[in-house]
Amino acid sequence: MALRFLFLAAAFVFLAAPARAQPVGDATQGQKIVDRLCIECHAVSDEKTGHRINQAASFQTIANTPGMTPLALSVWFRTPHREMPNIILSKDEQEDLIAFITSLKSTN
Ligand code: HEC
Repeated sequence: MALRFLFLAAAFVFLAAPARAQPVGDATQGQKIVDRLCIECHAVSDEKTGHRINQAASFQTIANTPGMTPLALSVWFRTPHREMPNIILSKDEQEDLIAFITSLKSTN
């Protein structure tokens, strides 16, 4: 009985974790990861020219894309993409990146 409850509790935590609506990561750390792993293809803002690969949107554009919620970003990070090299990100790194990208969203 107790074991069964534990299993259910664990399953619930596992299922609930990716659905968190609010970014919990550290945006400053996220920016460092971008500088290290992403800047080669993505510019941060639209003003800065840094696109090496034309199709890769700036993170500002990505942040302002309708429907680009923290959840959508976390799904993106867990899906392999042909255009992006297999960048393996830890859960903490994903959360930091999500915090950074969503922080670029314009408020108006
Ligand atoms: C080798 C080049 C390259 C690197 C490095 C790269 N990307 Fe990308 N990324 C792309 C391209 C090209 C696309 C557009 C392809 C698409 O939308 O299917 C893209 C799309 C995306 C999208 C989805 C945008 C949308 O509107 O759907 C996100 C989010 C993203 N990248 C995040 C990152 C992050 C975070 C990093 C660093 C950890 C990174 N990328 C590193 C090339 C790259």
